[in-house]
Amino acid sequence: MSVELKNIHFSYGKVKALNGVSLTLNEGATGLLGPNGAGKSTLLKIMLGFLVPDEGEGRVLGYDLRTEQKFIRQQVGYMPEDECFIPGMDAVTFTAYLGELSGMPRQEAMKRAHEVLFYVGLGESRYRLVDTYSAGMKQRLKLAQALVHDPKLLFLDEPTSNLDPTGRQEILELIGEVASTKNISVLLCSHILADIEAVCDQVVIINKGEIAANGRIQDLKMIDYRLYELKIKGELETFRKELEAAGCRVEETEDRLVKVYTPPDFNHLEIFRVAARNKLQVRQFVRSQTSLEDLFAKVVGVD
Ligand SMILES: Nc1ncnc2c1ncn2[C@@H]1O[C@H](COP(=O)(O)OP(=O)(O)OP(=O)(O)O)[C@@H](O)[C@H]1O
Ligand SMILES: [Mg+2]
Repeated sequence: MSVELKNIHFSYGKVKALNGVSLTLNEGATGLLGPNGAGKSTLLKIMLGFLVPDEGEGRVLGYDLRTEQKFIRQQVGYMPEDECFIPGMDAVTFTAYLGELSGMPRQEAMKRAHEVLFYVGLGESRYRLVDTYSAGMKQRLKLAQALVHDPKLLFLDEPTSNLDPTGRQEILELIGEVASTKNISVLLCSHILADIEAVCDQVVIINKGEIAANGRIQDLKMIDYRLYELKIKGELETFRKELEAAGCRVEETEDRLVKVYTPPDFNHLEIFRVAARNKLQVRQFVRSQTSLEDLFAKVVGVD
């Protein structure tokens, strides 16, 4: 288990940024999805020990986030949302310097700096002043400095911001490669579901400082579907098969209620047609509300 948080509260003065966040992150790649101002960056800063929670407790890689921040920072790589560069420094000096700040001896930090800069595709430009870097190069450099000390866990805050479609795809591929081949757990913050989907299979949705949903993306995507609850008399098998072939998901509950999740563009009258074809009686038909559905649409709609 890489992160465990219990009931974290945090306010900036009168602004409540986190309101009782409890969360467990396992190994692998997880996305933290939420609209602007949801509290994503604040949560990362709490996990890194940069901010101290008003209430609640937590552990990152087994270390207490109130008292063992030093160990957390040695083993966690952090790609911040804002620019973190030192003007007038070239990329390799900068990366090595941050390696030293994480506790590496100078020579080792320098050796690793060269390695990670090649790894992120900046090998050729590693002696250039960071000030002259393009947006895409800056994001790669931010990733390099987050990897220099060989962390076990990586926090990435909006790694695709300011990038054009190609740059965005390239950095996502790189992050995906880090997550899958380097045995590093990743927490990727974004307000864009597609970014998270490209890299993660788990997602935590945060809204207004509270966790709104948490689970496999595949399952949560169903929330964007319409849900109809039906009572049906007759044999379900072919009814289910036909609807599933049309992109729906069909579930049967214990009390013989049939739940049909339909994609957003699906005409619900088709459910009646399929039922009629299969000589089924629809005895009840209710469009159900899922509170998550609206939230999810809102979160995803930001893109
Ligand atoms: N230094 C600060 N002082 C006062 N309020 C702040 C500060 N930083 C953040 N906030 C507020 O706390 C809330 C959460 O902000 P946070 O930056 O964590 O959100 P976020 O999910 O990272 O948003 P974004 O997608 O815009 O980066 C917002 O209401 C924000 O305005
Ligand atoms: Mg943020």
